[in-house]
Amino acid sequence: MVFKDDFVMKDKIEEIRTEAEDELSEARNEGEVEKIRIQYLGKKGRLTSVLKNLKDLPKEERPLIGNLSNKLKKELETKISDAVQTFVQKQREDKFSKERVDVTLPGRCLPLGSKHPISQVTEKVVEIFSYLGFSLAEGPEVELDYYNFEALNIPKHHPARDMHDTFYISDEVLLRTHTSPVQIRVMEKQSPPVRIICMGKVYRRDSDVSHTPMFHQVEGLLVDEKISFGNLKGVLTVFIHKMFSPDTLVRFRPSFFPFTEPSAEVDIQCVMCGGEGCRVCGHTGWLEILGAGMVNPAVFRMVGYDTEKVTGFAFGMGIERIAMLKFGIDDIRLFFENDVRFLNQF
Ligand code: PHE
Repeated sequence: MVFKDDFVMKDKIEEIRTEAEDELSEARNEGEVEKIRIQYLGKKGRLTSVLKNLKDLPKEERPLIGNLSNKLKKELETKISDAVQTFVQKQREDKFSKERVDVTLPGRCLPLGSKHPISQVTEKVVEIFSYLGFSLAEGPEVELDYYNFEALNIPKHHPARDMHDTFYISDEVLLRTHTSPVQIRVMEKQSPPVRIICMGKVYRRDSDVSHTPMFHQVEGLLVDEKISFGNLKGVLTVFIHKMFSPDTLVRFRPSFFPFTEPSAEVDIQCVMCGGEGCRVCGHTGWLEILGAGMVNPAVFRMVGYDTEKVTGFAFGMGIERIAMLKFGIDDIRLFFENDVRFLNQF
């Protein structure tokens, strides 16, 4: 049996379907889809009211109309969730394409720093002496009076202490004024042969264009049988030729250090004027770059070395001084001001 209302209701359901589908196909975003959902499937939605009003239909019509409405409800639900899915997906794709990173592009370069000139010279010195067979030794910057002076043949009240302008921490403790105490520390622990260099910070109460309260030194010590002043000359000449240039003239001048005998100061031909004489070399044509000498037997006796069997030489130099000459820097304080306009040049 077919009822008249059947047709009316069927048409109505069909109408709801077509309209809902039309509207869905025109929806441009998730919000619009949601509006459509409310309009048809919400509490007061068009399809919802059809379902609500089923009870008002004649009993015989209810199953068919109910069936159709429920079917449409399910269909619309699927279509709506598909549409939402499509928009979510599209949104995600838009976002990804906007935020997309091209991993094949070259990276942004970070500004590169450069090595501090003191580090550059330090590394070069280590390289040269390693080549000559020296190994690295270390010692403390806060040092005992004993190692800094006494064991180096500089007893208390010795006039040579005046040369050092020492920072004392107490009567027996001080900031080392040179790297020579490392010689003693090494020889106390090691029997000959010894072939070491030591580099590090040293401290003196002094400050002007050519002095800073802290600066760096390299110390060298070689002890073995039959070591002569000729070996000292050879090693230092090779060092200077590698550090500056192979044709740099070298001159040894007699000098005095309590821990070496004989002692010498070593000069190189002025790197600024090539020996002609200029302001930097005080118009002498020569620049003093280091102190050296044969280890004083008094020092060997302090560490229990047999002075009949071994001899040795030692030398010490300031890294800043070498760097100033190598790079043509006229004020030692520039090394410690950390002005990038200065540092950038190296
Ligand atoms: N220690 C000395 C100084 O600082 C330099 C030196 C070292 C001299 C080794 C001779 C031998 O002045």
